[in-house]
Amino acid sequence: MKRYSEIAGDGGSDILGQVIEQRRAQAASLAGVGHLVAIASGKGGVGKSTLTLVLGLALRQRGRRVAILDCDLNGPCQAQLAGLQEVPWHLSEEGLGVPRRADGLGVLSLGGVLAAEQPMPLDSVAQGDAHTWRATREMAMLSQLITATSWGELDLLLVDLPPGSERTLHHLGVLGARTSVVLVTLPSALATGVVSRSLGALRAAGHEPLGYLENMAGYYCRDCGEVRSLFPEAPRSLDLPCLGSIPFDPEWAERGDRGWPPLGEERDPALEAVGHAAEALLASLAHRESPEEEDPR
Ligand SMILES: Nc1ncnc2c1ncn2[C@@H]1O[C@H](COP(=O)(O)OP(=O)(O)OP(=O)(O)O)[C@@H](O)[C@H]1O
Ligand SMILES: [Mg+2]
Repeated sequence: MKRYSEIAGDGGSDILGQVIEQRRAQAASLAGVGHLVAIASGKGGVGKSTLTLVLGLALRQRGRRVAILDCDLNGPCQAQLAGLQEVPWHLSEEGLGVPRRADGLGVLSLGGVLAAEQPMPLDSVAQGDAHTWRATREMAMLSQLITATSWGELDLLLVDLPPGSERTLHHLGVLGARTSVVLVTLPSALATGVVSRSLGALRAAGHEPLGYLENMAGYYCRDCGEVRSLFPEAPRSLDLPCLGSIPFDPEWAERGDRGWPPLGEERDPALEAVGHAAEALLASLAHRESPEEEDPR
């Protein structure tokens, strides 16, 4: 077997041509999507996946055609959050159909096809440098999943990213230049410090996020009906527009475990905050000039 260093040029495989073709096919698959919005954070566990789902529900409630793409291939949770774990995926001539909830929210998450204890098989024959190879395989798989899917006409595709600044940049590289970014943080100096660094990394790479969501901004006490403070420190805000501050609601964990019901007329502070965030997101997208997708060459 030859080593990479022994192969002259690209060994006749026209790697550049293949990459260009894949990017064209992916852009064609997403042609009916109005806005791509990535929900990201340098910090893990801050509520990206939960807010992606509830924002999707709030946008559906406002009549928008919305789907969610769960990019966490190793720890997918959107199928469970949406209650779509048992809904089979359908493949037709148009491509892979997006599983849809009764309220119309579409959710593509590998949690719907892999058993709970089954990891994504990203191993490869490469030894030694396997970590580099795994990352490449993960991104290639994501691009192929997007391309193979029949997204149809959507106002918004919300993309739930795994945590980490570097991984956010990798994912944005795959998703393309027209993707808008919303960062998620907590109102603690620790979380905001980490998310500030992700903001710096994004800006250094030429991405200006639309804004940020401050999650767990207070604790909604269902006994007294008030929102009490949760974090002791005065929040250090990010140098970005704040699209919403969402309190911690102790009922959300149970809703997520069972699969979120459709939003009704509830008037609790957490869901009202999510509704305001959905409207702020729509307003912000309406003002954003969508950059053209760069030519893959
Ligand atoms: N506003 C909230 N109210 C109540 N619980 C919340 C809220 N936001 C998040 N949670 C809970 O916090 C936990 C972490 O949330 P989630 O999985 O959405 O975070 P994440 O940022 O997507 O994590 P990861 O970085 O691992 O992807 C979950 O158990 C979720 O139910
Ligand atoms: Mg998550």
